[in-house]
Amino acid sequence: MNILMVAAPGAGKGTQASRLAERYGVEHLASGDLLRHELALGSAIGRAAASYVERGDLVPDELVMRLVLDRAVTAAGRGGYVLDGFPRTRQQAEEAYAMTGQQEHLTLDAVVHLEVAHDELRRRMLARASAGDRIDDRHAVIDHRLDVYDRQTQPLLEYYRDRGLLVCVDGERPVDEVTQLLFDALDGVRSGG
Ligand code: AP5
Repeated sequence: MNILMVAAPGAGKGTQASRLAERYGVEHLASGDLLRHELALGSAIGRAAASYVERGDLVPDELVMRLVLDRAVTAAGRGGYVLDGFPRTRQQAEEAYAMTGQQEHLTLDAVVHLEVAHDELRRRMLARASAGDRIDDRHAVIDHRLDVYDRQTQPLLEYYRDRGLLVCVDGERPVDEVTQLLFDALDGVRSGG
């Protein structure tokens, strides 16, 4: 089972992706977590990505592809993945497909979108900001991340809708209810229904 999560910052991608990965026995791969790990290590990729993450801009494709693609291919060979935060632009989707699209076990089963209004997204990220874990959970950066999402990532939804892969769920409901909506939608995909 290969699933992508495409949704705005704060929509609940990470929260729901780990539950989906557990239910379907696949790996949870999060591009943001992989980048933050490299930042913490101070690796070459981390140093190259740091200013983009801090500003809330997208990191250059080449860096993200290096972190994500091989891991996704390996996970697909072991039964699948929930890929959270990648691809984030149409160009990333097309490049990833060009590099891996010939391999049947990498075929996507579903692309999950969590629908959440901007006011609620801001509220969640500002609530998390008090924990101080994320350098990009600051007022001005949050607004910029939402703007980047609207301009660069949202068009991806149409791309996947056209391919019959998009599963949209109300992401404003309580966490457990969102999870149940996703299980209801994706169990059918898994069984071919
Ligand atoms: P990334 O780490 O992907 O962050 P993001 O998209 O900004 O999303 P978040 O992690 O903030 O939110 P989420 O949707 O995972 O929600 P979560 O479950 O955490 O990316 C960070 C940066 O890395 C990017 O800005 C970019 O610089 C770079 N990057 C990453 N991928 C890239 C790529 N492909 N290309 C280029 N650059 C890339 O939940 C958020 C909060 O809400 C939590 O506190 C949670 O407890 C709460 N919550 C969750 N669900 C609910 C609910 N239903 N009700 C109430 N609260 C909820």
